[in-house]
Amino acid sequence: MNEHAQAGAAVPLFDPLSPDFIRDPYPHYDILRRLDPVHVTPHGMYLVSRHADVSEILRDKRFGKDFVERSVRRYGPKIMEEPIFRSMSHWMLQQDPPDHTRLRGLVVKAFTARRVEDMRPRIQEVVDQTLDRVIPNGHMDLIEDFAFRLPVTIICDMLGIPEEHRATFHAGTRDGGRILDPVPLSPDEIAKGNAANAMAQMYFHQLFELRRKQPGDDLTTQLVQAEEDGSKLSNEELTANIILLFGAGHETTVNLIGNGLLALYRNPDQLALLKAKPELIAGAIEEILRYDSSVQMTGRVTLEDIDDLCGRRIGKGETVLCLLGSANRDPAIYPDRPDRFDIVRPNVRPLSFGGGIHYCLGAQLARIEAEIAISTLLRRLPDLRLDDAANPEWRPTFVLRGLKRLPASW
Ligand code: HEM
Repeated sequence: MNEHAQAGAAVPLFDPLSPDFIRDPYPHYDILRRLDPVHVTPHGMYLVSRHADVSEILRDKRFGKDFVERSVRRYGPKIMEEPIFRSMSHWMLQQDPPDHTRLRGLVVKAFTARRVEDMRPRIQEVVDQTLDRVIPNGHMDLIEDFAFRLPVTIICDMLGIPEEHRATFHAGTRDGGRILDPVPLSPDEIAKGNAANAMAQMYFHQLFELRRKQPGDDLTTQLVQAEEDGSKLSNEELTANIILLFGAGHETTVNLIGNGLLALYRNPDQLALLKAKPELIAGAIEEILRYDSSVQMTGRVTLEDIDDLCGRRIGKGETVLCLLGSANRDPAIYPDRPDRFDIVRPNVRPLSFGGGIHYCLGAQLARIEAEIAISTLLRRLPDLRLDDAANPEWRPTFVLRGLKRLPASW
């Protein structure tokens, strides 16, 4: 047992869904990083909290996804009969090479920096229309009335979802996040996941039929054609990955905008600096991603025995949880007060979009959406103030970190 493991006795129970943890996970991460940087949870999972280790694991081929094996270990052999687990097993996010490489290769072109830059005018238009609608009211919920509309609209554009089908998505609930948390789902939560998955499948099968008959310049048409080709994509993979693309950018980008606005309004000096120098927005978004990431963790499985991870030996088939939110506050890489929100901090390279082969496909899109949303809001509503910046209400999920609501007035 190494020095960290011995010190592990002093580490409090890892309980990521406790209200205290949800409200502010960062003091908990600080203890883990200092005392037990590869901590074994009561469920036998390895929690990795330092930047250097997280960054290395994300890029190391000895760590993969092995989703089916991992789910069977956690829930028993019958779990793969649950439709939601079968569907998730086809997500590129849950695949290892070569299937991951094949699936990602089919969509990667739609997300290049160039393609995403070309979307700027449309993103600006959606933000302006959203603000035009709410400005006369004098108040709004920055989550539901502002942040939520943008990512949904843009992903609907990219997937070629017709305008007349969008009302349900705009009114959609944001209940799916628990499925990613490292705390097993209850039978009731699995049933809810199955129901939501069935609804999504029903809708997307209709969309596939439409795009077979009326091809468009969109991702759905592209993937439907790849599926028809036969060798590139199975029907189950097509459905699962469209659902992934639709969902992946939703909650995450809403929360990037929400967490960013909260950080800015809680730090009036930084807010004033950004208002005075709007050209600092790109750096401000990187700092928001670092300071309060909307994705806090991603998991891997050891594909072989690992002899030494911070002095620990980890056998094949173990689950390793990479705490992105903790890595982003590691003083080893951010020596100047990592818990401070500083929009001109030098060398900010957050791990919020992951790293290695699964690096977030939508990273550039999310950055630009957040840039335009936040800078337009500050410009058009300079007198906006939060109704209750001290006690915001967080959503009860750990991996996806974001606010339930953020009421504001002007
Ligand atoms: C602030 C916003 C976002 C954050 C923080 C975020 C975070 C992440 C992270 C951490 C991963 C890697 C997970 C892993 O290593 O296992 C990931 C993967 C992914 N993200 Fe994002 N994401 C965001 C927005 C988006 C958007 C807007 C889209 C698409 C429209 C998107 C689509 C994806 C996809 C498809 C993957 C899987 C890539 C692969 O497995 O190769 N994300 N994201």
